[in-house]
Amino acid sequence: MTIPRATKIVATLGPASTDSATLERMILSGVNVVRVNFSHGTAEEHIGVVSRVREIGKRLGRDIGVLADLQGPKIRIGKFADGKVTLVEGDRFTFDIDCEIGDETRVGLDYKDLVNDVKSGDTLLLNDGRMIMRVDRVTDRTIDCTVTLGGVLSNRKGINRQGGGLSAPALTAKDMDDIKTAVGFAADFVAVSFPKNASDMYMARELCRAAGGKALMIAKIERFEAIGNLEEILKASDGIMVARGDLAVEVGDAAVPALQKRMIRMAKELNRLTITATQMMESMIESPVPTRAEVSDVANAVLDGTDAVMLSAETAAGKYPVETVAAMARVCDEADRSGSFSLDKEFLNRTFGRIDQAVAMAALFTAAHMKIKAIASLTQSGSTALWMSRLDSGVPIYALTPEEGSRRRMSLYREVHPVPMTYTGSDRESLLLEVEHKLVDLGIVERGDLVLMTIGTPIGKSGGTNTLQIVRVGDRA
Ligand code: PGA
Ligand code: MN
Repeated sequence: MTIPRATKIVATLGPASTDSATLERMILSGVNVVRVNFSHGTAEEHIGVVSRVREIGKRLGRDIGVLADLQGPKIRIGKFADGKVTLVEGDRFTFDIDCEIGDETRVGLDYKDLVNDVKSGDTLLLNDGRMIMRVDRVTDRTIDCTVTLGGVLSNRKGINRQGGGLSAPALTAKDMDDIKTAVGFAADFVAVSFPKNASDMYMARELCRAAGGKALMIAKIERFEAIGNLEEILKASDGIMVARGDLAVEVGDAAVPALQKRMIRMAKELNRLTITATQMMESMIESPVPTRAEVSDVANAVLDGTDAVMLSAETAAGKYPVETVAAMARVCDEADRSGSFSLDKEFLNRTFGRIDQAVAMAALFTAAHMKIKAIASLTQSGSTALWMSRLDSGVPIYALTPEEGSRRRMSLYREVHPVPMTYTGSDRESLLLEVEHKLVDLGIVERGDLVLMTIGTPIGKSGGTNTLQIVRVGDRA
């Protein structure tokens, strides 16, 4: 049996990918998690597509995670009489909170607090940095600017201040409603857009829990301030998204690659998940094959150690959603196995605070130093699998659990492959034998292979993993 792909694929759903036939082909081509983007579409549409994904997953026997991505405070300009204007370098332009319908000289603001957040000399970026203006003068109702990079500006485009500093809160009233919708369809992950600090994440988690949701909370790192608060945001979250689209606007595009590496490393050290996102296969919106640069970008994210790589418009609105997933899977597959799997030296000097963590690390150490075919984790919550997936041993981790929610959350973990399992025995020996048979039935291992099993006693207690057993397949049958 070939080793399954370690790095997971998140695919954004949209008009190009909401019909059942396309969804099924995308899942068969390698999608592990679907992203429902609350910046577009209605609650009814999202509910409908999630139920189709769940139904297809069930039919195919795959645990597909669902990530609900909140819109957040996208800071936008108002509208123009003709829908858009063309501005050239040197033009004067004013943002005016009293302006209802804009023209070549001025436009209104959806985000009226902008007048309080900027000062003269600031640089404003519009439409994801495609147009740039310098601020000349600010009053309590207007911001006068000079265009320094011209282009076409259309209705409701986003606006950012270079260097960050906008005071908009991370959770809008719409986000609060959308959290309830996401809990309603049992989202496995909720992504919070534009968090600045840990309290933004605590607030989102509180709202999710209050509505009865169990979703893992993902912080999208896309603000200048979030970089400075990375450690506290990580600690307040279950994972982060390296949201390169907005992040590049706030910190400058050239700073993003090194930040990506730093974020992934720090997240793994803190036992948190990572999704690397935006423009990964951008040219495949229009083309059936990726560029060399895109192939390298995806492979490099894999080598950085990301849990998952994400597709945005490629699968939401592109011409080739299925081909894009297949191409990404192919690149991940090869990159997964091209790194070297020596455990970091610092690993040897670590001390562990928890028993399940210590067992997980012992399993990894053994797997990296002995010819182990597979790791099997008998788990409830998946916490042992999470610890094990934070370091690379090159050995696939099968997480066997009857808990469907745990399996769906583990769909994002690098190198972890959830397997549904209902145990019939109640003592340790019979459980281990059941797992052995399951792995053989699935074609994962064969007679003579070594398997590492982690298990908790007493059986069935969440977070109770305390035992590591090395099993030679067939020895006890
Ligand atoms: P978005 O977030 O697609 O919701 O804008 C991702 C990013 O900014 O990169
Ligand atoms: Mn963004």
